[in-house]
Amino acid sequence: MKFASSALFIAPLLAFIGTTAAIPSPADAVSGVKTKIEQLVNARGSDELLVARAPVTGTVNADAVRYRRCPNTSSACDPIGQYNRGQRITIICRAIGETVNGWSWWDRMDNGWWISDYYVDWTGGVPDVCP
Ligand SMILES: *[C@@H]1O[C@H](CO)[C@@H](O)[C@H](O)[C@H]1NC(C)=O
Repeated sequence: MKFASSALFIAPLLAFIGTTAAIPSPADAVSGVKTKIEQLVNARGSDELLVARAPVTGTVNADAVRYRRCPNTSSACDPIGQYNRGQRITIICRAIGETVNGWSWWDRMDNGWWISDYYVDWTGGVPDVCP
């Protein structure tokens, strides 16, 4: 009974989350957030990376990651398309949006669309915060 009601709760939640990328296990989600924090901490230690820079290249780190009209998985930010692992993207800036797997940064790409930064690895710098 308890299990059935949990399943009823989780199904719409998964639909709401709205990404077809595999939902990470809690351990993977923690590890992903740690990686992101390390990227930020490392960047803070580098004078070069403290310089405002744009754009920054990113690489998508999961399959079937949807990119959206705005930084939120709600229907107001409907998906435009999706990228697979290894897709290179150009990030103009980053902003706080809906929290995805414990990580609230989203990247705005040069095509104008948004992708959850949880699914992106930056290379060559940390994107500026969007104005
Ligand atoms: C995402 O969208 C939902 C529904 O419109 C809204 O309630 C929520 O506050 C938004 N989250 C963020 C972080 O903007």
